[in-house]
Amino acid sequence: MTPRTGLFISFEGIDGAGKSTHIEAVAQAFEAQGRAVTRTREPGGTPLAERLREMVLNAPMDALTESLLVFAARRDHIAQVIAPALAEGRVVLCDRFSDATFAYQGGGRGFDWQLLQTLEHWVQQQGVPGTALLQPDLTLWFDLPASVAAARLASARVPDKFEAQPQAFFEAVAAGYARRLAEQPKRFARIDANVAIDAVRTQVLAALRGKGCLA
Ligand code: TMP
Repeated sequence: MTPRTGLFISFEGIDGAGKSTHIEAVAQAFEAQGRAVTRTREPGGTPLAERLREMVLNAPMDALTESLLVFAARRDHIAQVIAPALAEGRVVLCDRFSDATFAYQGGGRGFDWQLLQTLEHWVQQQGVPGTALLQPDLTLWFDLPASVAAARLASARVPDKFEAQPQAFFEAVAAGYARRLAEQPKRFARIDANVAIDAVRTQVLAALRGKGCLA
């Protein structure tokens, strides 16, 4: 395996939490320090994974099928985009990664957490048994009450399959994120997303500095 010299940062939260707005500001902060940045997203990030995204977001399916498709998309994304970018020393900013699977399929849909961990090991070991699991160096979790997110989404675009779910689903998704944070606290920074956008950005930049990602 090529040695990792890059930096891998994921952005997570329930739909409507506002994470995507902040990715561009983070990219600019890294670029201002001379780092090459790759912006990408999941499900998606490669032509194949974007096709799988369309299916996952629009077609009805059971939770196992959904989990297999998001991990298949992730496998292609890691192989084609994330691992090569990290090997080149780039900063990879990923709008969602595997915590979203634990939160949405595990928390929201109540799917088997241990089975998701098995799939995570298959997919994120980059095919080399015994090598470390590929995980973000830092995950920014934009935490927003489901009721506030629902009000934001109500005025947004036509909802996809997940965005159309009731508030109770997003409460379960948020509980899934909280469980992941409890399991891997060092990797996470929780951002209070229930404040003005400038105050959210301040927290994001502080988290990146606090974790030693940004100078
Ligand atoms: P986005 O709208 O933030 O791009 O996310 C796409 C949707 O896909 C969002 O509702 C969360 C969902 N999703 C999953 O259910 N499982 C996953 O593993 C990922 C990455 C996203």
